[in-house]
Amino acid sequence: MWKGRFSQDTSSLVQQFGESISYDWRLYPHDIAGSIAHARAQLKAGLLTEEEFSSIEKGLLEIEADIREGRFEFKTSLEDIHMNIESELTKRIGSTGGKLHTARSRNDQVATDTRLYCRTQIDEISTAIHGLQKTLVAKAEQYAASVMPGYTHLQRGQPVTVGHHLLAYVEMLQRDKGRLSDCRRRLNVSPLGSGALAGSTINLDREAIAVELGFDAVTRNSMDAIADRDYIAELLFVISMSGVHLSRLSEDLILWCSSEFGFVALSDAHTTGSSLMPQKKNPDVCELTRGKTGRLVGNLMNLLVAMKGLPLTYNRDLQEDKPPLFDSVDTILLVLAVNSEMIAAMKMREDRCLAAASDPMLLATDLADALVKSGIPFRTAHELVGKAVAESVKSGLPLDSLDLTAIDSAYTDTMKSVFSLETALAARTNPGAPSVANVKREIESWKACL
Ligand code: ARG
Repeated sequence: MWKGRFSQDTSSLVQQFGESISYDWRLYPHDIAGSIAHARAQLKAGLLTEEEFSSIEKGLLEIEADIREGRFEFKTSLEDIHMNIESELTKRIGSTGGKLHTARSRNDQVATDTRLYCRTQIDEISTAIHGLQKTLVAKAEQYAASVMPGYTHLQRGQPVTVGHHLLAYVEMLQRDKGRLSDCRRRLNVSPLGSGALAGSTINLDREAIAVELGFDAVTRNSMDAIADRDYIAELLFVISMSGVHLSRLSEDLILWCSSEFGFVALSDAHTTGSSLMPQKKNPDVCELTRGKTGRLVGNLMNLLVAMKGLPLTYNRDLQEDKPPLFDSVDTILLVLAVNSEMIAAMKMREDRCLAAASDPMLLATDLADALVKSGIPFRTAHELVGKAVAESVKSGLPLDSLDLTAIDSAYTDTMKSVFSLETALAARTNPGAPSVANVKREIESWKACL
């Protein structure tokens, strides 16, 4: 492509070192869409005849079909997807193929392709997140009223329901979708026409190209448009954040399916055995989700570090944007799919959840609230209940069987009515709190929204 200036062929080691076709081949549908839009603008500008345009378009569509059907042979010597397609086009339609690159550079071409790729993948990831949310809501509905302990510091804190716990993840995933759509909106501008870095002396209708490719606008500064990879970094962040959410869910499930908790039974289809210990049933999907999240975060770091020292505009370092991008997209899609399937099949062990939540200590705060309702300042109430807790620990008697009135005269006999899980949950009616009525209302609202 640059033979004019050179008298030596590229070393084969350099070819091997510099190629990106082994991974950027998957930009082909976007590369072809971009090329067709570009060619149409050339036609409108009088740079191509109708026949030339048609032969370019037909040639590109045939190449696209060949790649799709696996009939296309990619050449490492042609470095990347852009040159592989262009060279094949010229081979097929002759010298007209050489007109396609007028007023274009691989720099604005690759920027266009990756924006289109990210846009498509954002939609796919968003759909997959949506699917996982539906699965979680269905599970939350099944266990809307199943009481379990809620934890802070991994110590039993207060009673919640399984439904409330699962809906927490639905909230996180909703924010992830919001971040995806923010990212999509910001990236949806067309860099085509920015050329290598300074546009072109040949003016093509950038707006028309943008419209054809579904972009909302055109980029405003050719140098920024060529150097910009913010949209990839943003997407890698959103994917990482989503991975972090699923990694936390994984951690909950890993704990829950241990013998010590025993809150959940994952299906045989979503667990693995041990080659040595016959009794084992391991939550590998959860562990791999947690582990792969490290890769997602690593991919984000990879790109940020690659970008941080680059002067404007294009530098070949930017070719390294794609392996982390593709890896994160592939990984999160797989993570979302497999987690959806696993969660749909899991069964909560409601008896175990209830048993763990039935420790009266979980209602110590409710007892303090009862004292507060009789007019005692919360700090005093906290101390009085603390004394009762200490007495319970010392005597080995459960908190609800102590003679509270003997501990302090502020206690009344009726205050013991707080030691009912049902009452305790029913009282938590503030918006966002886990009363069963609230959780059921939230489930209905999620069902309508999803
Ligand atoms: N394969 C290259 C990349 O992904 C395309 C752009 C090449 N541009 C250049 N000036 N060498 O970044």
